[in-house]
Order: sequence, then structure tokens, then C-alpha cells
Amino acid sequence: NASNAASRGAFIVMEGMDRAGKTTQVGKLRHTLEEQGHKVKTIRFPDRTTPMGTMIDGYLQSKTEMADHAIHLLFSANRWEKAAWIKEQISQGYMILCDRYYYSGMVYSAAKKNPALSLEWARTPDVGLPRPDRVIFLDLNAAEAEKRGGYGEEKYEKREMQENARELFLGLAGRGEESSDMVVIDAGHSVEQVASAIWDEVMKVVKAVETVPRRELSV
Ligand code: TMP
Repeated sequence: NASNAASRGAFIVMEGMDRAGKTTQVGKLRHTLEEQGHKVKTIRFPDRTTPMGTMIDGYLQSKTEMADHAIHLLFSANRWEKAAWIKEQISQGYMILCDRYYYSGMVYSAAKKNPALSLEWARTPDVGLPRPDRVIFLDLNAAEAEKRGGYGEEKYEKREMQENARELFLGLAGRGEESSDMVVIDAGHSVEQVASAIWDEVMKVVKAVETVPRRELSV
């Protein structure tokens, strides 16, 4: 109803390649929103603190091996663990800033180019999760990312995987629900310039949630 819609928070997702500056920008956005008097909570996926998160962490650090489909479903289950909490916080008026979400889920799994694991298949287990009000994709090409200090040691931090993932991310801008939720921001500029471009988008969302009810991801 209208009074619920008026008091809910927004669900904002920050997506992007490794080294694109997601964590820095989530921190800056939190600060700006709080300055404006909003209540904010930040989360990140994978959430490595839960039992499923521990399994994901072991996989990413190459301590354990898992079939492509199995690890994909774990990443999704790790979001489902938090779904009720996200809904609850939003309905209590919190702005949720989320570092990675199902977009990462889709593209990193599909970037493995396993013919049995398509982008469409990868999206299916996430159907029904809280749908973001806005997904900000911080776009940085692999060469720029490497200039920023290169990649770490984790499983997916390899150039080919990153290039495949970026291409798939950009392709989501033309796919169904994602095309209306996602905005691409060039992360190759200064921290302040990127923060200002993000704020322009978030301002619109903060205004819009006053009238738009919370939704779920649909097929
Ligand atoms: P992080 O570096 O942000 O903690 O993310 C760890 C890696 O996990 C990163 O390479 C992206 C990848 N990932 C997936 O493959 N599927 C997912 O669902 C998520 C959230 C991340």
C-alpha cells in the first residue's frame, strides 16, 4: 500500500570487475546517503561468514574443487540465505548497498564457457530474490584493471576470465529485467568523478522508491 511504499528503503547493487573500485564507491555512497539523513546498511556477496560462504571461500582460494554447477548454486544459495533479511531491512526504511549480487553470479559462471552452463541457466536459481532498484555497473577494461595493481591470487582473477565476464556484464544491458535496472558507469575516471556519476543515479532512485513498490526477480 501507499504508506508502506513511502517509507521503504532502496536496494542498490554495485557490480563491476575486480579493481573497478566497488568497495571504495560503496563506502562513499554510504557516507553521502547518511549525510542526507538516510539509514544505510551495506552487504556483500559472496558473504564468506556463513557456512556456505566458507565453502565458497575455499573454492575461490583453490583449496577445494567443485563442479561448475555446484559452485554456482552455492553462490546463489548464499544470496538466498540473506533474502529475508534484505526484504526486512528495506521495509524498515534502510537503504541497502550491496557489493555484487546475482549479476556477478550469472556472468562469472557463464564466463567459464562451460557449454552446459548458459547465462539463462545461471539466472534461474536467483529468480524470486529481491530485485534491485538500481544496479550500477562500474566498467573498467582488463588493461586498466591491471594498471591498478593487477589481480590477486583468487580463482577468477585471470585476464581471460575477467575479459569474458566484462563482455557478459555489458551484454546484460540488453537483457530483459537487467536492461531496465542496470546503468553502466565508466570507472576509468577519478574516484570523485565516478562518485558523482553514481550519486546522479542514486538520487533518482531515492526519489523513485517513494512510489515504486519493492519487487522480486522474475523469469
Ligand atoms: P569478491 O572478490 O568481491 O569477494 O568476489 C569473489 C569472486 O567471486 C569474484 O571473482 C566474483 C565471484 N562471484 C561469482 O563467481 N559468483 C557470484 O555469485 C558472486 C557474488 C561472485
